[in-house]
Amino acid sequence: MSTPHHPQLDRDGRLQHLLTLEGLPREILTSILDNAAPFLAVAEREIKKVPLLRGKSIFNLFFENSTRTRTTFEIAAKRLSADIVNLNISTSSTAKGESLLDTIDNLCAMHADMFVVRHASSGAPFLIARHLANIGRNDIHIVNAGDGRHAHPTQGLLDMYTIRHYKGGFEHLRVAIVGDILHSRVARSQIAALTTLGVPEIRVIGPGTLLPHDCARLGVRVYHDIREGLRDVDVVMMLRLQNERMNGALLPTPQEFFKVWGLTAEKLALAKPDAIVMHPGPLNRGVEIDSAVADSPQAVILPQVTFGIAVRMAVMSMLAA
Ligand code: CP
Repeated sequence: MSTPHHPQLDRDGRLQHLLTLEGLPREILTSILDNAAPFLAVAEREIKKVPLLRGKSIFNLFFENSTRTRTTFEIAAKRLSADIVNLNISTSSTAKGESLLDTIDNLCAMHADMFVVRHASSGAPFLIARHLANIGRNDIHIVNAGDGRHAHPTQGLLDMYTIRHYKGGFEHLRVAIVGDILHSRVARSQIAALTTLGVPEIRVIGPGTLLPHDCARLGVRVYHDIREGLRDVDVVMMLRLQNERMNGALLPTPQEFFKVWGLTAEKLALAKPDAIVMHPGPLNRGVEIDSAVADSPQAVILPQVTFGIAVRMAVMSMLAA
């Protein structure tokens, strides 16, 4: 499946879909982060709801497994008072051979206002957005919840929210992304957002087999030695080995990977003393990260999940506004 260009902004420059962070103006990224901040407080209320999307129908379409993204989109939609439907793909008519676009047409006939889409094929959310434009349904919004190796824009945004929360801004930071960059849609969205938000030094650290060959084109510094790459960084963003997207063996065993590339307390000590450790989840303890680090005070992995609800509330309310 190709990834055709599709404009994410309407004629007035407002967000129509959220498909990728690449090419999104800094003002839009910043306004999503700014809009998310007050939504965090909604969770502290006795009734955790605001009426912004009352009467709107949102469909969660997860053609690939998820714990965090699917659940936090559902919570976010409910906190905005929307009606959310989780389509169970394994028991849907997709299993009988119905095409993606036929499924979309049927859900449009049920008066959908927004689709949140995760798909193993890069470009699937773009395909749906283009289809909706072709059938004149510009009133329906698409949020990409992760497509193949391509993009995971709300993960990138919640990561930016987390960095801004703990570090106060972006302009002075050294950020390292560690592990399987090649297969990671999260890394692509992170690099796009960090670049747009003005991070002066983005490092990618990993074995040659797990780095894209055109890494330098992304404007990042490449390190094949984790100790060198972690030295004096402010933020360490770990990635899972995306075994489901690897064709053939690119690695030795997980134990050997951990020995060289796993984040241990000894390696983390090379970063700045107040460096934060992030991970999009799911964690593979003892593969890319040691439990002692994942559970340490420097880890902000669970706050990332909490911030994800507020960021997704911001995205959905901006799209539907
Ligand atoms: N970070 C992330 O996308 O996690 P899930 O696969 O559980 O949604």
